[in-house]
Amino acid sequence: MLSSVRKAGCSLWRGVVAPRSIQTSSALQHDSLFVHRDSAADNPDIKFEFTPDNIKRADAILAIYPEGHKRAAMIPLLDLAQRQQGWLPLSAMHAVADMLKLPRMRVYEVATFYTMFMRKPTGKYHLQVCTTTPCWLRGSDEILETICKNLNMKVGETSKDGMYTISEVECLGACVNAPMVQINDDYYEDLTVQDTEEILSDLKAGKRPRAGPRSGRFAAEPLGEPTSLKGEPTGPGFGVRADL
Ligand code: FES
Repeated sequence: MLSSVRKAGCSLWRGVVAPRSIQTSSALQHDSLFVHRDSAADNPDIKFEFTPDNIKRADAILAIYPEGHKRAAMIPLLDLAQRQQGWLPLSAMHAVADMLKLPRMRVYEVATFYTMFMRKPTGKYHLQVCTTTPCWLRGSDEILETICKNLNMKVGETSKDGMYTISEVECLGACVNAPMVQINDDYYEDLTVQDTEEILSDLKAGKRPRAGPRSGRFAAEPLGEPTSLKGEPTGPGFGVRADL
């Protein structure tokens, strides 16, 4: 049923964004950000070193984990490297492997599994558009198309000026505020096409758009009046009278 709905929706596409089948993950379809090939910008000979400030942060992260379990710090350390560099080059993975005294393969396994790790140079603004079912049912196709058209880019591309990267991603855990887009560390939720265009104009103007829901909601509370649990609670005992 859903795949036929999705298929029907595809006829609305005007070639800006290729539709994907509901069984295909976005990472599989747009893997240009996730496959490694040695290049001038990313090869094992390029040196990566944590900054002095980040070495202190790395030490603080490592201190959380007991001896024998330091490898559990791998994801926070990869994240730290990515925040320093703007993306996660191979040499940064090697620096993390050295820090944790692990074979490099153990780090590759993690860095290639999680789509949060960007393995190619990434724009200053990383726009991650969720197109999983709840967001899709609430119009994520139109949001993605609006972004691609507005920035004149395709999914998986980084703009030539290094300002924007567009990724299509799976559920970002904000389904109740669908459709939504993550830009760097901020969530933009309950989006309409107009909201999306406003956010893009703010970015182009060098402003930080207001994060959170755009529907007037504070968070994920119901949009209308409550429709259930409206009576007085009966209290403990599941409504069974003690005198019976
Ligand atoms: S489906 Fe989009 S946030 Fe969950």
